[in-house]
Amino acid sequence: MYEAAEVTFRAMLMSDVPVIVMIEQEAFTTPWSAEAFTNELSHNHFARYMVMEDATGIIGYGGMWTIIDEAHVTNIAVRQDRRGRGLGERLLRRMKEQAAEYGMHRMTLEVRVSNERAQRLYERLGFEPAGIRPGYYSDNNEDALIMWVELSKSGREFSDNEYI
Ligand SMILES: CC(C)(COP(=O)(O)OP(=O)(O)OC[C@H]1O[C@@H](n2cnc3c(N)ncnc32)[C@H](O)[C@@H]1OP(=O)(O)O)[C@@H](O)C(=O)NCCC(=O)NCCS
Repeated sequence: MYEAAEVTFRAMLMSDVPVIVMIEQEAFTTPWSAEAFTNELSHNHFARYMVMEDATGIIGYGGMWTIIDEAHVTNIAVRQDRRGRGLGERLLRRMKEQAAEYGMHRMTLEVRVSNERAQRLYERLGFEPAGIRPGYYSDNNEDALIMWVELSKSGREFSDNEYI
């Protein structure tokens, strides 16, 4: 089990892209290219990407677009050999906190209807199903489940000190 001190978060840098693409390729059937990440980091002013690191380097990453008061998650992945240890949950919690820090009120994402592990993670963190985008994933015409969470209610996870 990972202790809090063993994992850190920081903004994704251009120099991270080669490692991110490796994780992306083992995580997704239609992975984003290096160019897609480079473009997000350099040209998309709505985009916020973070990496999660331990002593070995980057072990996960996630991104979102912050649009008015809505955070749209673009991707989230944990290195294959580090999954099932609560790291995905820690990463998504941090992404929710960051979205709230940017003034976002809600967070949304799409997930393959077959991706039950990811859906369980999202439900644990308060996301609720809100509809289906039929045939959203072009590789196999799979439907996407749309999920939302209110950040004002459950997104910001204050430490005890912040209530004082
Ligand atoms: C979805 C994803 C980010 C989740 O990351 P993760 O680090 O495996 O997530 P967690 O460890 O927090 O949770 C996964 C499971 O491990 C369990 N778990 C957490 N800590 C654990 C521990 N210490 N010991 C045993 N199991 C544990 C969780 O309960 C959860 O179980 P469940 O699948 O039965 O609900 C990861 O699987 C991934 O990168 N998948 C490929 C990309 C992807 O599908 N992204 C989402 C697209 S929408």
